[in-house]
Amino acid sequence: MAGQAVELHELARYRAEFPVFERQIYLNTCSLGALSLRSRAWVERFILEWQERGAAAWYDVWWSRLSELRERYAAVIGARREEVALHASVSTALAVVASALDYRHRPRVVTTALDFPTVVYQWLAKRNEGVEVEILESPDGITVPLEAFEKAVDDRTAVVATSQVYFTSGAVQDLRALAEIAHSKGAFLLVDAYQSVGQIPVDVRGEQVDFLLGGGLKWLLGGPGIAFLYVRSELLEELSPSVTGWFADRDQFRFEPRSLEFHRDARRFEQGTPSLASVHAQLGGLELLEEAGWDRVYRVTYELKEDLIACAREAGLEPKVASEPARRSSIIMIPSPDPGAAVRTLAEANIVVDARAGCVRISPFFYNYRDDYAGAIELLKRR
Ligand SMILES: Cc1ncc(COP(=O)(O)O)c(C=O)c1O
Repeated sequence: MAGQAVELHELARYRAEFPVFERQIYLNTCSLGALSLRSRAWVERFILEWQERGAAAWYDVWWSRLSELRERYAAVIGARREEVALHASVSTALAVVASALDYRHRPRVVTTALDFPTVVYQWLAKRNEGVEVEILESPDGITVPLEAFEKAVDDRTAVVATSQVYFTSGAVQDLRALAEIAHSKGAFLLVDAYQSVGQIPVDVRGEQVDFLLGGGLKWLLGGPGIAFLYVRSELLEELSPSVTGWFADRDQFRFEPRSLEFHRDARRFEQGTPSLASVHAQLGGLELLEEAGWDRVYRVTYELKEDLIACAREAGLEPKVASEPARRSSIIMIPSPDPGAAVRTLAEANIVVDARAGCVRISPFFYNYRDDYAGAIELLKRR
């Protein structure tokens, strides 16, 4: 059998941090990362501070935790704290970026049919302001060739907006090549990294990305309500959003309604009071991932997904994934005539997966074992 080596992998001890496994076999991280005891403890700490100290907790501890979270997000993507803004969702962060671009000479936005719709919606909503959206199709439903981007991007393009990992297929895009295509025409590269940060390495400087978005929901184990935006430092002062809030003001506690002076750092892209419970859940998730070690998390996840693909192939299931292993991530699409029914069958066996576009979607993370998906594959094979 393929990949026996990952059966009891080097991070197996962290499974005990995730109570969901007492009742279920959880294989759906690309929808929502599992809750850890660590995140729970951090949220409980927040609740206690709120109860015991009220508003004083803002100045004692909460304010500095926001800055700590910016710093820790920055460390995961190879950025500096000053380049990271906090948001409640990727959508709100995107809205602020979209409001900061100048479309007068560059009205075009290039994206793809495989990207998460909230990305393109920002610009579809601006069509009556003259914004033109080009959506590149995927010939195989897995990826979009670089040549299609090359053809589409021109000197009227403001931004290429696409994912590092497509939620639709798990395919990993070549960000460096996309950055070269965008920059050769004077356009920005904006990356939706919601499905990549935490499961594969991200290096915004090395890849020369201009904007990158991610958050707690999935592979960073922070749950809903917390997201971040990276803005390359060289761009910060040349961009002023028109969707904003008091957290973007350089001196927000002067409470001065007559003028707005943006922060010089990425906080100029923030809006209002962050969801503090979510901030704390995210600090717990990051604490655990950092302790497990990013390289180990990436390595174990990589091995699990390659082993799952091999198992599915052995079972004759033909997973719909990118052809090169390095271009595959831990979102594995298994075609099924009735994915909804297949998901229900697995749920009856306490195995949690998901369905998308004609496929069952299985997404193992470092807290999974080989036996988890081996059982799922066996049931899918029998259907
Ligand atoms: C690729 C991708 N982008 C964005 C989102 C969510 O965006 P938001 O934070 O606005 O809900 C998801 C998942 O829900 C996603 O898979």
